[in-house]
Amino acid sequence: MTKKYARHLVTAALPYANGPVHIGHLAGVYVPADIYVRYLKLKGEDVLFVCGSDEHGVPITIKAKNENCTPQDIVDRYHTIIKQSFQDFGIEFSNYSRTSGALHHKVSSDFFKTLYDKKEFVELESEQYYDAKAHQFLADRYITGTCPKCSHDGAYGDQCEKCGSSLSPLELINPISTITHEKPVLKSTKHWYLPLDTHENFLRSWILEGHKEWRPNVYGQCKSWIDGGLHPRAVSRDLDWGVPVPLENAEGKVLYVWFDAPIGYITSTQECTKDWELYWKSDDCKLVHFIGKDNIVFHCIVFPVMLKAHGDYILPENVPANEFLNLEGNKISTSRNWAVWLHEYLEDFKNQQDTLRYVLTANAPETKDNDFTWKDFQARNNNELVAILGNFINRVIVLTHKYFDGKVPQKSNVQEIDNKALAAIPHAKEHISALLDQFKFRDALKEVMQLARVGNKYLTETEPWKLIKTDASRVETILHVCLQITANLSILCEPFIPFAAKKIQDCVGVSAAQWAAAGNDAILTAGNSILAIDLLFRKIEDEEIQKQMQKLQATKINSEKTESPLVAPQKQTITFDDFQNMDIRVGTILEAESVPKTDKLLKLTIDTGIDIRTVVSGIAEYHKPETIIGKQVSILVNLAPRTLRGIESQGMILMAQDTDGTLQFVAPDIKVNNGGAIC
Ligand code: 2FM
Ligand code: ZN
Repeated sequence: MTKKYARHLVTAALPYANGPVHIGHLAGVYVPADIYVRYLKLKGEDVLFVCGSDEHGVPITIKAKNENCTPQDIVDRYHTIIKQSFQDFGIEFSNYSRTSGALHHKVSSDFFKTLYDKKEFVELESEQYYDAKAHQFLADRYITGTCPKCSHDGAYGDQCEKCGSSLSPLELINPISTITHEKPVLKSTKHWYLPLDTHENFLRSWILEGHKEWRPNVYGQCKSWIDGGLHPRAVSRDLDWGVPVPLENAEGKVLYVWFDAPIGYITSTQECTKDWELYWKSDDCKLVHFIGKDNIVFHCIVFPVMLKAHGDYILPENVPANEFLNLEGNKISTSRNWAVWLHEYLEDFKNQQDTLRYVLTANAPETKDNDFTWKDFQARNNNELVAILGNFINRVIVLTHKYFDGKVPQKSNVQEIDNKALAAIPHAKEHISALLDQFKFRDALKEVMQLARVGNKYLTETEPWKLIKTDASRVETILHVCLQITANLSILCEPFIPFAAKKIQDCVGVSAAQWAAAGNDAILTAGNSILAIDLLFRKIEDEEIQKQMQKLQATKINSEKTESPLVAPQKQTITFDDFQNMDIRVGTILEAESVPKTDKLLKLTIDTGIDIRTVVSGIAEYHKPETIIGKQVSILVNLAPRTLRGIESQGMILMAQDTDGTLQFVAPDIKVNNGGAIC
């Protein structure tokens, strides 16, 4: 049986205040969280929705250094911008706090102190890089050097951005401090560690036994962290920006940003209400964290261990983490400016917040990484919001004004077709509710649109504009039915597209919408007034999309000039069996010729060791036929045949695509017998 909670506490990941927010943030965390909260509020639940800016951490200090200002200047600037963007997009937090505030410093210091007094930390000494000239320990990002994996100069102490390897500063060859450009020295330093390993049994039973209902991506990540072996994690750093470690002899040490940031949820709640303990320390409150997948370990393992070790706090009931949203095939990147910034979106698509909320939900990365493309944005707006939802509601309102002077007509003489349309209403509500309860926002939105589709189809099939001359009472019933669907839509769509929902509610006279009111065919009473309504959604033209594409293209060219090339994001994980099913062999090109009337295709005859076969390959722009005869290649031999330009292609040649798009053969570096398996 599902537990009934007296209160709900919903948190959304605290965004770092070192840049504005983009569509990836909105899709990954804030839109789904806001949908969920709006749904709870419509149901009349007691809910607090808290968030705030994450204002500590090394990247903020680096940005400040680069801009020759203080970290406080940086976070003040972005806190304001981020807060405004959330407000603009209708993300209605109960409170939006910030971690550089005095209350947060006190709340997180007290939290640390409680754990310290309860002996929940271990103190460990370790050797870390120290800049003797600057008199400071160096955070990983303040050290660069040569990558031990790919020899790239300029790898950071935590990661090489060229080859993507995770590194530790001690692995870097020729480390250099980015502050003074001096060689750092190793120096011993003391820190406080949260011994996650001692909480393994609790985590196993709480998550792996107790929360099998969590999303597979979340549960799977937790399982692999736990099975992989948990280790003590440092909760302090040698840095001068952050919450000072509240102990004696801890000068120059602050709480690690990932220790104080989740406590920011508690601070934010305290700023909302003096009864904050009813939300944090009472079993009848349901705590849900909305985050992106890179935050799973902190919210499912580290923070719960902190809460449990403290002793007074409840644990999250669910952590519906999303995967990532890519942009036009590439990972969104703040540093490369490969992003759609929310404040810039609104400059180009004024008052079209709902369109973005809609597209990001319809294409939400709930189960796998997804791609945002401007073409898809346009298509979903024009073919779904405009052509289905907007069109239905507009037709209903216009016809009500035209035939019934803007009053809800009577329902009489109800026929089967009317009942069928009306039956879609409770069906929609039931499904949307069940899906929202399971955090399946994308599917829930599909059900909303399905109800609008039913309405549209019903109007098209009943053709009231023709019947009006011969059977006015039928038209009354038809529009009555359509208006009840419209009123239901105005409530059911509110969590997703609140701006449009409000307009529809105002138009049909649904005041103080409640979820309980939806799901039936009697929201409106005959004789009620219906107001006129402006177009809910406008068509987006090709030129507007081209403009956005050009803007991105310019970013790409600039970033290619100045930075490392764009690398396609990693595809979805496959199983070992998926891989084993691919039969890849070494073969030799016996013949090669251009395929007539194409610039891209070559027809190759390949000796695969199994047989001699034909493969059509899209490599003509990069390889001339005469230069590749005799070359060994890798060929996927068990790919289903495909016909290209009338030629049956029996396999695929494996090519390596450079980041500039050019294609090179993937082949053994010394000769191998044809038919040799690539494994
Ligand atoms: O990944 C991030 O953007 C972090 N600033 C999220 C922090 S969430 C919470 F712990 F505050
Ligand atoms: Zn590297």
